[in-house]
Amino acid sequence: MRVARSSSALRLPLTLAAALLAASTAARAQAPARVSYAPAGWDAGTKLREAVDINPDPNIVEINLTAKVADVEVAPGKKVTAWTYDGGLPGPLIRTKVGNRLIVHFKNELDASTTVHWHGVRLNIEMDGVPGISQPPVKKGETFTYDFIVPDASLYWYHPHVLSNAQVGFGLYGALLVEDPDDPVGLADETTFVLSDIGFDSKGVLEDPESGGSAGMVFGREGAYVLVNGRTRPTLKARPGAPQRWRIVNSAKSRFFYLDLDGQEFTLIGEDGGLQASPTKSSILLVTPGERKDVIVRPTGKAGSELTLRAMLYNRGYGSIEYRSVEDIMTIAFTDDPPVTKYELPKISRTLTPPPLAGATPVPVVFTLPPQEAGHNEFRINGVPFWKAQPFKAKIGETQLWTVKNDTDFDHPFHMHGFFFMVVDEKGAPVQPLVWKDTVNIPLKTTARFLVTFDNRPGTWMLHCHILDHAEGGLMGTVQVGDGPVLTHGHEPPKK
Ligand code: C2O
Ligand code: CU
Repeated sequence: MRVARSSSALRLPLTLAAALLAASTAARAQAPARVSYAPAGWDAGTKLREAVDINPDPNIVEINLTAKVADVEVAPGKKVTAWTYDGGLPGPLIRTKVGNRLIVHFKNELDASTTVHWHGVRLNIEMDGVPGISQPPVKKGETFTYDFIVPDASLYWYHPHVLSNAQVGFGLYGALLVEDPDDPVGLADETTFVLSDIGFDSKGVLEDPESGGSAGMVFGREGAYVLVNGRTRPTLKARPGAPQRWRIVNSAKSRFFYLDLDGQEFTLIGEDGGLQASPTKSSILLVTPGERKDVIVRPTGKAGSELTLRAMLYNRGYGSIEYRSVEDIMTIAFTDDPPVTKYELPKISRTLTPPPLAGATPVPVVFTLPPQEAGHNEFRINGVPFWKAQPFKAKIGETQLWTVKNDTDFDHPFHMHGFFFMVVDEKGAPVQPLVWKDTVNIPLKTTARFLVTFDNRPGTWMLHCHILDHAEGGLMGTVQVGDGPVLTHGHEPPKK
């Protein structure tokens, strides 16, 4: 080390450096060793491109990100002229560690304005990527630097907040992974899956995002090509019985992913805001738009055989099962490595403190879809579509109990920017196991309740359905935290 040769003038920094070095060595010694069982190249068929960190400081991740049109092959011979981050679909995986500063030099080379929203990250409003509210839109040829701390370990994602039903559907989305160096899962065989879809014709021309008019908006438009990390039906290799950690985000603008792995089990260990209080097991896994799921799978089968990961039919309202079919989305191919018969997931438990119910301010919310007026549908929150809405209000430090009644015949994955919430039952008791959410599905004709504390990050924050057609069709609003200027929304109403 260079500092070892320093003169007496550098003695203090040297001591400091030694102390820091000792501390980091100790931390490394305590971090659980990560075991690997996966065959070589197991994820070569699915692996995401990663953003390149240009900053040598270990606590800063600094990247360049450019939005531009590019031809992308999603299946052999199937090319689409998509809107991309850095020329690929999905955008690059941004890998950070909890507490890092993330600096993103964003450049817009599209022929339209855009922004980048960092879905789920508890950042300051200036970095939230909402045009007209937290920043001006980034026009064609312009740049914007996003710069914030990633305070919580989990999987997040990024996407535009300008005409998002169009821009996300065109291909603008990517994953942001915030790792915890002391992660208790202890598994090296980990991979991230960005699930999405895209629609285009035989010439590779993107589908019209307004297809079907306002009825198309109500159904929620899905693209015909279902993608796992930008590919149709890729293959993941597996050693029989070996555990794999899958970190999943649904980046589709409307499609729900109701996942089945030939009946095999998913062990859910975390969701939007990181690990849950304790793991739960299920044979089917619902991932609605905007949500993240952190699961362990242990696919079993004979050497040389295959399993299929399928998106099953899920009824999210009329039109969502009637005209659709089960989709095979990924192949799991077993290698002839000897099976792993003994594996015990380390004890994963996390202490989470729910926001206090006592004294929480009730916030009643109702979603409706009134009968058409002038041949046009619009979703409404408390009687108005977003372009007529006033913000909800919250004081800094206030805890609120939101009761969101979905009085429509369609599911709505409800997302709030900037703050995690905890889902509770009719009595206000948190649903077990405890977990932080930023997006929760509210099935048709049901009510969801959650507790949220607005910490000291004043600003006007968006809330909306993450079926992005629904958001642009009215199901969007804001909550004004603190007493800044009253901003209603940064989005234009649809042109009729
Ligand atoms: Cu994924 Cu307004 O958010
Ligand atoms: Cu919706």
